[in-house]
Amino acid sequence: MKILVTGGLGFIGSHTVVELQNKGYDVVIVDDLSNASIEVLDGIESITGKLPDFVKLDLREVAGVQKLFSDYKDIEGVIHFAASKAVGESVEKPLMYYENNIVPLINILKELDKKEKSNFIFSSSCTVYGQAAVMPITEVAPIQVALSPYGNTKQIGEEIITDVTKVSNISAVLLRYFNPIGAHESALIGELPLGVPQNLVPFITQTAIGLRKELSVFGDDYDTPDGTCVRDYIHVVDLAKAHVAALDRLIKEENSDKVETFNIGTGKGSSVLEVIKAFEKVSNTKLPYKMVDRREGDITEAYASTTKANEVLGWKAELSLEDALASAWKWEEKVRNS
Ligand code: WQD
Repeated sequence: MKILVTGGLGFIGSHTVVELQNKGYDVVIVDDLSNASIEVLDGIESITGKLPDFVKLDLREVAGVQKLFSDYKDIEGVIHFAASKAVGESVEKPLMYYENNIVPLINILKELDKKEKSNFIFSSSCTVYGQAAVMPITEVAPIQVALSPYGNTKQIGEEIITDVTKVSNISAVLLRYFNPIGAHESALIGELPLGVPQNLVPFITQTAIGLRKELSVFGDDYDTPDGTCVRDYIHVVDLAKAHVAALDRLIKEENSDKVETFNIGTGKGSSVLEVIKAFEKVSNTKLPYKMVDRREGDITEAYASTTKANEVLGWKAELSLEDALASAWKWEEKVRNS
């Protein structure tokens, strides 16, 4: 049973490949290497002892996607991570985001549509909720007008999948991630942001290792206990396991609808200052930071209701914020000292 993982050399993709292999799945990774390095393949093999098949491919190329599916006729499921994902960049380059995040999706769905039956797991995001009115955020919270082309591509992707599954043999699960952080405990794979990190945790670890001078905290005047934004930080390994749970569910035909949606978070909100404090504790370092103005487009708070994921999907986050931060730090030290 072959599982195709697009963007499988990326941060979440590579951790998911490890968990798929641990569960006995055979994996084919497709990646265009635009935002990942081929060395990640060695990291995966070092962890699991199994080298996944790898195909370098730009999924925008229809012929390339058709050849992929004719070369691998036994693909039973697809986990689709491949996409551009920088919120700020998407505002500057909307056409690149619509092309990168929608065309590959359509090309893959067209191939799956030719099969007797197939399973599709989509990498979505809590971004679709914007600033939800009620915490914790459930899967029936209203979808708000996207604040960025990136967020819009996730909403459009979900709508395309929903419409296609109604008239095809494709069953799908939409996983709406909260904030993925951390790295595999082996420190053989982790997050490798290109250039200046946009996200909080890689910026923290790069500051602590001395690559960055200090962390800028984007705003301390939000309506939260300590004035800084609150997010649901989930260990990337827990997130990876949620994908395996979703795939198992579809393969065993336990799904109750052609498309099911799950929020994947810990259910716990942490402020930026709480993350800094937790990081200083696990790394035994003092993190230099300063308060600056708010970042355009940031929401005040977001954390997941985990009831549906726990009770229906049968998945629950097991690792803590400290576990995730300690693994992120161990990975940063490994990358900088190797
Ligand atoms: C977290 C908090 C910042 C950097 C984004 C995407 C989301 C998903 C995860 C793809 C915020 C603060 C950050 C810094 C800071 N990506 N911060 N200084 O914005 O919640 O979510 O990444 O799917 O779709 O929107 O994550 O890590 O960028 O920010 O103070 O240098 O940390 O203001 O409150 P975010 P983030």
